Amino acid sequence: MTLIGRESADEWIARWDVQQEGYVPDREERFTAMIDAVEAAAGRPDPLVLDLGCGPGSLAGRILDRLPAATVIAIDADPLLMSLGRAVHAGRAGLTFTELDLREPGWAARLRLDRQADAAVSTTALHWISAENLRVTYAELARVLRPGGLFLNGDNLSVDDSAPRLARLEVALREREGARRRTGDRPEDWREWWEAIAADPEFASLHELREESVAHDGSESRLLSTHAAALRRAGFAEVGTLWQRGDNRLLAALLP
Ligand SMILES: C[S@@+](CC[C@H](N)C(=O)[O-])C[C@H]1O[C@@H](n2cnc3c(N)ncnc32)[C@H](O)[C@@H]1O
Repeated sequence: MTLIGRESADEWIARWDVQQEGYVPDREERFTAMIDAVEAAAGRPDPLVLDLGCGPGSLAGRILDRLPAATVIAIDADPLLMSLGRAVHAGRAGLTFTELDLREPGWAARLRLDRQADAAVSTTALHWISAENLRVTYAELARVLRPGGLFLNGDNLSVDDSAPRLARLEVALREREGARRRTGDRPEDWREWWEAIAADPEFASLHELREESVAHDGSESRLLSTHAAALRRAGFAEVGTLWQRGDNRLLAALLP
């Protein structure tokens, strides 16, 4: 494992959060709604929570800030982003980073949990996974959640072609809101953030490792119906939007 400094990791994560807010202006509000839901559904002060596609651990850290007795297992396939999270949260009780590809059958068993998880969360991540692979991801998830367990997927998820006029209106609202919000300089985007960290010598070897190991499917599953269908197929009984601003949704699913 490559060790990186706490201070620079802090700076890169702060820059990551600003970059992500460029795509999801209501990101903090969505985080808050997710933690409210975890707290309300868990039924215990010390829930075990999985963060799927955790990146550098922005949500995982916020869960522990609000629910200090929780245990959070933050999962991602990206060694560089996880190293940032590990550096910033080193020694923090209740938080573990685990490197796994959520598309691979068997990832749930590889976690070696000593009890089933009360909840799982994910933000701006699972749209990277194709509809076919999502079936694996969600079937594995259903194995590690306890009966009645909650899953929350916070992401920009669109309505599909079965409601074409609604889909167009959703796009129109997003564009208008985006134009209204655009003031001052354009924030750094995802690609620019990656180019910048790749140029930082402290991250050279981690970036090389990432280039070898991370397979990016792209924006494969942006439709709400794709996720809802895969969750139902995996055995989730109640599936629906719990919080929403335009197509920025919190899709919630509960096991029987
Ligand atoms: C845009 S980032 C979001 C990170 C974090 N959840 C946040 O909101 O800041 C998407 C994350 O999903 C992760 N990811 C995508 N596909 C994955 C997979 N198959 N297995 C594990 N992680 C994956 C990426 O590595 C990346 O960290």
